[in-house]
Amino acid sequence: MKIVVIGTGFVGLPHAAVLSEYGHEVYAYDIDAARIAAYQTGEADAIERYVNEPGLADSVAENINRYLFFTTDIANVVDGADVFFFCINTPPKRDGSTDMTYYLDAAHHLAGLLAQRQNLSRVVLVNKSTVPIGTARLLESVMAEHGVANFGIASNPEFLAQGNAIEGSRRPDRVVIGADTAEDMHILRRVYSQFVNHVRIRYLETTPETAEAIKYMSNTLLLTYISFWNGVGARLAEAMPNIRMEDLKIGVTADARISTWGSYVSNGAGGSCFGKDIQSLIYQLNRAGRSTDLLQAVYNINEYQKIYLIERAIHEAHFSFNQKTVALLGLSFKKRTNDMRDSAALRVVESLLARGVRAIRAYDPLAVDEARRNWFNPDKNYLFERISYHATAQEAISGSDAIYISTDWEEFRGLARTIQTTVTPPYLIMDGRRMIPDYDTLATAGFDYLPVGGPLLCGREADAMSGENGHRMTARPVPSHAL
Ligand SMILES: NC(=O)c1ccc[n+]([C@@H]2O[C@H](COP(=O)([O-])OP(=O)(O)OC[C@H]3O[C@@H](n4cnc5c(N)ncnc54)[C@H](O)[C@@H]3O)[C@@H](O)[C@H]2O)c1
Repeated sequence: MKIVVIGTGFVGLPHAAVLSEYGHEVYAYDIDAARIAAYQTGEADAIERYVNEPGLADSVAENINRYLFFTTDIANVVDGADVFFFCINTPPKRDGSTDMTYYLDAAHHLAGLLAQRQNLSRVVLVNKSTVPIGTARLLESVMAEHGVANFGIASNPEFLAQGNAIEGSRRPDRVVIGADTAEDMHILRRVYSQFVNHVRIRYLETTPETAEAIKYMSNTLLLTYISFWNGVGARLAEAMPNIRMEDLKIGVTADARISTWGSYVSNGAGGSCFGKDIQSLIYQLNRAGRSTDLLQAVYNINEYQKIYLIERAIHEAHFSFNQKTVALLGLSFKKRTNDMRDSAALRVVESLLARGVRAIRAYDPLAVDEARRNWFNPDKNYLFERISYHATAQEAISGSDAIYISTDWEEFRGLARTIQTTVTPPYLIMDGRRMIPDYDTLATAGFDYLPVGGPLLCGREADAMSGENGHRMTARPVPSHAL
């Protein structure tokens, strides 16, 4: 089939690449010329500057100019196309509603082109973007407004998890298609023929509105799981003695009715989707006059969790951040991606700067360029000049008074040794991901350890050294077995 993918970001590019693997003729279109030029090189470095996903660059390299084509000129590829996928960004507005500007620009542009079509074979316009319930219907009205003939609309939400986009697209757990007519369902079955009647993959055909609602329900339920563990499990293990977080997870999730996914504690869930989608759902339900108490609580718990360890450092470890140097380890919202959208690190940086830190020494295996380029721009906030970027965790830690671990990069599991060979106590380790299994060796060596989902563990010589540098003056020693 001839397929056009509109928008080639984190969703559109993996989607286009995987569709091309199945022998479709795929045109990936974007208005961002620099991005398309980078993809057209077919080179991993250039592609990964925009979307860094395991297996993506290989898939593009294998299919480019055979089954996969990149373009900034959609007018040239409209003719003869069977299906258009909208993979446009739909960011949140301040009031939580969805900013549909980019999406609608693309929809109107395409409608203008489709209206001039000579070949009037049926086209299906499919929303892969996460869009408010009713958007497929809105798309229908945009097409009708321009006088487009012989088209269908559909909703086919994307469920991929970043860091696993390619494998997730090759082997999704479900494909949800919301469309109005049997003809459009049939066209989409041809697009996804490898998943129809699959023994393991659920292929669900439903209404466009149900498909749109499935996406919002799925994301907010996932965030609810995460927030339950952060808002209840972590609080219990932090506040009550002798509760073991890992055992708590095993014991609770042994019940087949309870999800094992999400049963980890962290410094909050980031990424471009969870926060924006729950806000959008709250907005949509409020507009419909329905209660959103549960969703609001989930959202608040998750946002607070991003800076919660800093609050605990002040109130439990009595650490004063004023004029301190903090090593910030991990900038991306999770491991295996360079994406920093809604990352906890952003909130951590804001909070640290507001508390008067002298310097933040940042390290991330993938996201340093992203941080430099987009987010920590001194033009936006002159305090961002206090952030320096480092090539290794050890370099970032050097000369610091404290560490904040924000991302679950596997390499951080070996930090205990790096810390001991690079800095000396008094020193505070804030572990937002519970990444240091051998924390008790650190405590024995005099380091203070403050993990999410566990009590403060004071360095063994805490009493002897209290008063120095001001951050361990009144910390209450907690035996390591209490963790
Ligand atoms: N990122 C995820 O993990 C994920 C997962 C599931 C669903 N989604 C949803 O998918 C959608 C896309 O998300 P994303 O993360 O890929 O966004 P993104 O910002 O990475 O990519 C969007 C792309 O659309 C392009 N674009 C914007 N306006 C355009 C136009 N008028 N014509 C052509 N291209 C245009 C941008 O240049 C950009 O390359 C969103 O609705 C998001 O909520 C994202």
